[in-house]
Amino acid sequence: MNLHTLLLERFKTALAAIGAPEDSPAPLSKSTRPEFGEYQFNGAMALAKVLKAKPRDIAEKIVEAVSLDDVASKLEIAGPGFINIHLKSEWMGTQLDRALNDARLNIEQTANDIVVIDYSSPNLAKEMHVGHLRSTIIGDAVAKTLEFMGNKVIRQNHMGDWGTQFGMLLAHLSDKLNANEVAETALSDLEDFYREAKVRFDDEDGFADRAREYVVKLQSGDPDCAKLWEKFIDVSIAHSEEVYDKLNVSLTREHVMGESAYNDDLANVVAILKEKGLAVEDQGAQVVFLPELADKEGNPAVYIIQKSGGGYLYATTDLAAIRYRCQKLNANRTLIFTDARQALHFKQTEIVARKADFINDEQTYEHCPFGMMLGSDGKPFKTRSGGTVKLADLLDEAIERAETLLAKRESDLSDAERKDVARKVGIGAVKYADLSKNRTTDYMFNWDTMLSFEGNTAPYLQYAYTRIQSIVRKAGVNPTELSASIVVSESQEHALAVKLLQFVEAINQVTAEGTPHVLCSYLYDVASAFMSFYEACPILKDSIDENVRNSRLKLALMTANTLKKGLDLLGIDTMEKM
Ligand code: ARG
Repeated sequence: MNLHTLLLERFKTALAAIGAPEDSPAPLSKSTRPEFGEYQFNGAMALAKVLKAKPRDIAEKIVEAVSLDDVASKLEIAGPGFINIHLKSEWMGTQLDRALNDARLNIEQTANDIVVIDYSSPNLAKEMHVGHLRSTIIGDAVAKTLEFMGNKVIRQNHMGDWGTQFGMLLAHLSDKLNANEVAETALSDLEDFYREAKVRFDDEDGFADRAREYVVKLQSGDPDCAKLWEKFIDVSIAHSEEVYDKLNVSLTREHVMGESAYNDDLANVVAILKEKGLAVEDQGAQVVFLPELADKEGNPAVYIIQKSGGGYLYATTDLAAIRYRCQKLNANRTLIFTDARQALHFKQTEIVARKADFINDEQTYEHCPFGMMLGSDGKPFKTRSGGTVKLADLLDEAIERAETLLAKRESDLSDAERKDVARKVGIGAVKYADLSKNRTTDYMFNWDTMLSFEGNTAPYLQYAYTRIQSIVRKAGVNPTELSASIVVSESQEHALAVKLLQFVEAINQVTAEGTPHVLCSYLYDVASAFMSFYEACPILKDSIDENVRNSRLKLALMTANTLKKGLDLLGIDTMEKM
């Protein structure tokens, strides 16, 4: 059940009944203060002009025409013609009872798009770094949320597994293997390996030439070289998988659709663009001029799709990827999560792809940019010595810190249980810290804030969840056998009930905008509403009437289910005890 949709439909029917034109705007929003009810309908003002009447009179007509007796206890007209909607407690109770007995929390699958999500997408020549952490975490949360609503999600890990730097890396790897090293050991630290290869490339006589030969061999499909490349890629993907496992994200090898996958189509892409008169030769290169993105002097932007030596670029691959996604996979939407510095590239790519009809007007191409992860000094996140932070190390540190924190808290957990909780809290904290910030801004990485049990953090929400579980255990009842239905009477119950019924609205915003922080704020509000409710409405006190107690327990359980489902969509674990 979607409260917003339900109210909107009723109002639209009412508008038709009072003779409003079919496409009349029907603005319905959440009220900003409890005394204004839960929702506000603001359609009367715009209609006043069309129907040539006073807005307040129109509002009165709408109130008369709208059929909301089952849902609302009161509709009141305020100001120039706002209609405030106060929800009926009985109705909310019934809805919550229904949601409590349903695995999907009474949320229907209302979407059925085919959505390609391009996320994580690390460069395999090097270790995964913090930029890919953001892409991985945010992309995965959006993927899960889209899936929950019924979309067919196709995950694509557009790994950087191709390009001239592989010549240098393969030449170096070949030497190591000839010296009887195995690939796994040689590549155990990709960062070191890359550095060694680069030093040889810059300083060692003849090495740069060999590196270039390897590039040619790789591109011409030489079988020995291909084997070497596969070895390299295989070990490097395994490094990423280690990070995915630790992070508990849903990416696996079958989602890898690296740059190399489009090799065979690149010449074709250039040929099509030439044939359509979009690409022209400029100083030996094939370029597309983009007057849409001209500079101040009016010079069009130059989008290169083939270098003068014949080599292809990142851009060429992305054009091939659009063709594949839109024409073979029939994606209605394509979402790409990378840092904001690539915004221009994707803008240009989209313009070119649309002109070339690789993507049609109904299909979207949505670059979802994010800001940088900064250290506490406000500068890009680095190790103390200024190196790139290895993700695997970062995640291990998160777990260790959570372990130290938990050791200080009183609990009856066994050692093994505590280790498990520490992992869930540590990883949850890192993920949530990232997810809870509006992704478009830079964000500051701070261990103390993310691991705090207070504020908008994973530990706070995980704790709220376990606290409810412990209340239910203490009550000594079987949650599936609770008699009595949910009765919403106290104002704190009312506030919590409304919040709980708005889950799907938060979810829909995440799927439309690719912004998991909306869901985070929502869950934080739910947990806070629960805390106020629990303070005002005791559950475990002996003096409480059984029906009241059971109703409150059910409200608590519904809160727990919502927190669990929400955290699950974000890729964060909950636990029964902590
Ligand atoms: N490998 C790229 C990077 O690390 C990200 C790729 C994003 N996806 C794409 N289709 N270009 O920056």
